This record gives sequence, structure tokens and C-alpha cells, in this order.
Amino acid sequence: MSRIDLRVEGNVGYLRLNRPDKLNALDAAMVGELAFRCREIERDDSIHVVILSGEGKAFCAGGDIEAWAEESPEAFGRFWVREGHAAFDALARLRQPVIAVLDGHALGGGLELATCADYRIAETHIKIGQPETGLGIIPGWSGTQRAVRRFGAQTVRRMALFGEVFSAEEAASLGLVDMVVEVGAAMAAANGLAKSVLQRGPRATELAKMMINAAEGEERERVIEALAGTLAAGSDDLDEGIAAFREKRKPDFGKDKG
Ligand code: COA
Repeated sequence: MSRIDLRVEGNVGYLRLNRPDKLNALDAAMVGELAFRCREIERDDSIHVVILSGEGKAFCAGGDIEAWAEESPEAFGRFWVREGHAAFDALARLRQPVIAVLDGHALGGGLELATCADYRIAETHIKIGQPETGLGIIPGWSGTQRAVRRFGAQTVRRMALFGEVFSAEEAASLGLVDMVVEVGAAMAAANGLAKSVLQRGPRATELAKMMINAAEGEERERVIEALAGTLAAGSDDLDEGIAAFREKRKPDFGKDKG
């Protein structure tokens, strides 16, 4: 049974963590599913915006403590951390804007997951923090990297080094969340925001997101090559290059055409 669901309605992809009995704590299998779902979303032309949420009372209570506690130090570094990065990177680098619905706590890996979104909506009752060092471990799914880039080092210091846990209002004042709404109102707010995304040009929105990611240091190499690849692939040169390859002749790029 899937514990990361994807449902498409109109042009909205609803990505939902579905492990409410464990407050959507992420184990290795869910991390793999997240990466798989991100590939599905990338390839689905009908999805223009994504809403990320968690089933039940938490958004996500982080990495599954029982699961990672059993990993050897080598496996923790090699697989747990690196596979988490691969999945979270895939989410942060989706071509579509992602809105996170924080209608429950976002702690540890849950905050790192929300950090991958482009917009965070929090309900008034939720808590946000990085409890990892209190457990003797580090925030390992980019909680000291992407989170620092997006929210600034001092806010992350307060959570990771001093154990501060923020309310939704505090999180908003620190830029950790973008909008605070009453209990039960986050999904409706996300749907409203998604509608405003859908009124904009999907291709332009996608390109703008790529460039913002590049400016932020999220994915410079891929963005530059993707933009250049799009331009090159749209040129007559490509048609001639491919035709020449198929016809086993030298390409004639018509240099005299300028
Ligand atoms: N990993 C594994 N299981 C977790 C979990 C996690 N990160 N967070 C919660 N759970 C499990 C609990 O063990 C419990 O399972 P059980 O019913 O089989 O005993 C279930 O989810 C419900 O959690 P519970 O603690 O009973 O809910 P609560 O409302 O009393 O407390 C929290 C909520 C979020 C404050 C508390 O669950 C918590 O502190 N979780 C850990 C958060 C954390 O440190 N995250 C960083 C991990 S690196």
C-alpha cells in the first residue's frame, strides 16, 4: 500500500504523506516513494501546481526514529542521508510550484520536507522545529543546508543548536512560513493559491521557478543546461544534425545563412 499518495484533480497534483498512525514519520521506503512520485509529477503535463500535505494530525514528525536508529553509521551516511537528499532534491527541483499545507506539526525531516516547497501555509496550532540534536543526531536531509539558504543561518541555529520550537506566528515572523490561517483552513488556502498559479502561464512559471532555484544555488548546472538544451533543441541545426546522422552524411548547417 502506498504511503505517499498522488492524486491529480484538474491541473493540481495532490501529494500526500499517508502514515497517520506514526505522524507521517518517513522511513526509507517512503523516501523512495517520494522520489518516485516526484518523477511522476515531472512527467505529467497536466500538473501545473502541487499541493503537499500530510494525512492526520501531523504534517510530518520527521525521519522515522525507530528506522534510522537501527542503521549502522555507514548505512546512515551512505543510504539514509543520501537517499533522503535525492528525494528531497527531486521535490525542491520539481518544475511546478509546490505549496505545503502545514495543518499539523512539521518537525525535523518534516520541516526539511516543507522547506522543499515554494510556499508554506501553516495553521495557528502547529509547531515547527528541528529536534534532531536533542536525539544525538544531525538534521541530515538538508536541514542545515537548504534550510539555511532559504531561511537564513540564525533561524536554523535557534532550532538546531538551541532547540527552539516555533509557533506558526513565530515561524511566519521568521520567514519559515508564508501564511498563517485558522485551524482547518490551510487546505482551502492552498487551493486558493493554486488557483492563482493556474491563472499564470505554466511554461513561464516553470522557467521562472528554475531561474529562482538557480539564483538560490538550488540547481545551477541543471537549470543552465536545461534552458540551453531547450534553445538548441528548438533550432533547425538539430533537425539537420539528426537527419545527417540518419542518412550517414556530413551535416550541412548552412553556414552562409549566418
Ligand atoms: N519516528 C517514529 N515514530 C514517530 C515519530 C518519529 N519521528 N514521531 C512520532 N512517532 C510515532 C510515535 O512513536 C507514536 O507511535 P505509537 O503510537 O506506536 O507509540 C505515534 O507516532 C504517535 O506519536 P505520539 O508521540 O504518541 O503523539 P503526540 O501527539 O503525543 O506527540 C510529537 C507528537 C510530534 C510531539 C511526538 O510524536 C514527537 O516528539 N515525535 C518525534 C519528533 C522528532 O523528534 N522528530 C525528529 C526525528 S529525527
